[in-house]
Amino acid sequence: MNKVTIVGAGNVGATCANVLAHKDLVKEIVLLDIAGDTARGKALDTWQQAPVDNYSTRVTGTDDYALTKGSDIVVITAGVPRKPGMSRDDLIATNARIVVSVTRSIMAHSAHPIIIVVSNPLDVMTYAAYKASGLPATRVFGMAGILDTARYRAFLAEALDISPKDIQAMLLGGHGDTMVPLPRYTTVSGIPVTELIDREKLDAIIERTKFGGGELVKLMGTSAWYAPGAAAAQMVESIVRDEHRILPCCALVEGQYGLNGVFVGVPVKLGHTGIREMIELKLNQDEKELLNTSAGHVREVMEAFDGMNLLG
Ligand code: NAI
Ligand code: 2OP
Repeated sequence: MNKVTIVGAGNVGATCANVLAHKDLVKEIVLLDIAGDTARGKALDTWQQAPVDNYSTRVTGTDDYALTKGSDIVVITAGVPRKPGMSRDDLIATNARIVVSVTRSIMAHSAHPIIIVVSNPLDVMTYAAYKASGLPATRVFGMAGILDTARYRAFLAEALDISPKDIQAMLLGGHGDTMVPLPRYTTVSGIPVTELIDREKLDAIIERTKFGGGELVKLMGTSAWYAPGAAAAQMVESIVRDEHRILPCCALVEGQYGLNGVFVGVPVKLGHTGIREMIELKLNQDEKELLNTSAGHVREVMEAFDGMNLLG
């Protein structure tokens, strides 16, 4: 795998390109944006960082899809972010059109890429890219769970006064306030987190995680980019290196978890061909109900997307 394209050279896309370049994984990263010379400038800046930080990945910027030809992996970050007071779902009217047109342009130049969607509302934009691309669902999935678990792990690390490196966690469901963090699947160096923190503090951390994106929108007037850009780069890394990491990603669930035909966050094994396997956890009744509520919400927004008739 030699070539990664990132569409959208805004906060998340440019950060993802920069983090990926530092990993020195692929020969070439193409950063594409429709907004003037934005992509060219940010790509040139990242390329000029190469001699300082010692990487070889060539980063180029463009507004021309011809330069994305033959991409192995495409990360879609194009679209508008939230402003204070907005939900992720409020973005669908604008971003659905953008994601469908970006996906079509990508597919016109790359035969069989893996597509990682970042644009919001994430689960439904992943569905949009899946439908518009005609690719198998193992090759079209979304980034959200890595970010959401990273927030959860960071809050836990702070509360326990430990390194976030030692916290392992899993989370299911849509990328929104109905997401389902899983304390039963959270450990600190193998120790169940429930042995280290009392239930009240843990519940407060779970609540803060669910609204973690909104907390940053309030602070910055736009949504987050450092952790999201790095999270998307981590998915690219697992694919390029064929690492088979098990990561929470937004994927098409067909039968697992008692759900069918819906894109939600689930643990998947990521390698060269995209999703190699979906892991089905043995949920208890409460967890199942939370996941069903979250999937039901995503399904409603998927139906709103279908109602827009953008694929005709
Ligand atoms: P931004 O506004 O900084 O950048 C978006 C870029 O997309 C702009 O440079 C814009 O010119 C470009 N763009 C718009 N239409 C385009 C098109 N048709 N083709 C190519 N480029 C186009 O926004 P930011 O902060 O980078 O966020 C991007 C998206 O990612 C938003 O929808 C945001 O909600 C979402 N997001 C998702 C996260 C997740 O966990 N899945 C985390 C953070 C952001
Ligand atoms: C986040 O959670 C905006 O979805 C993005 O920060």
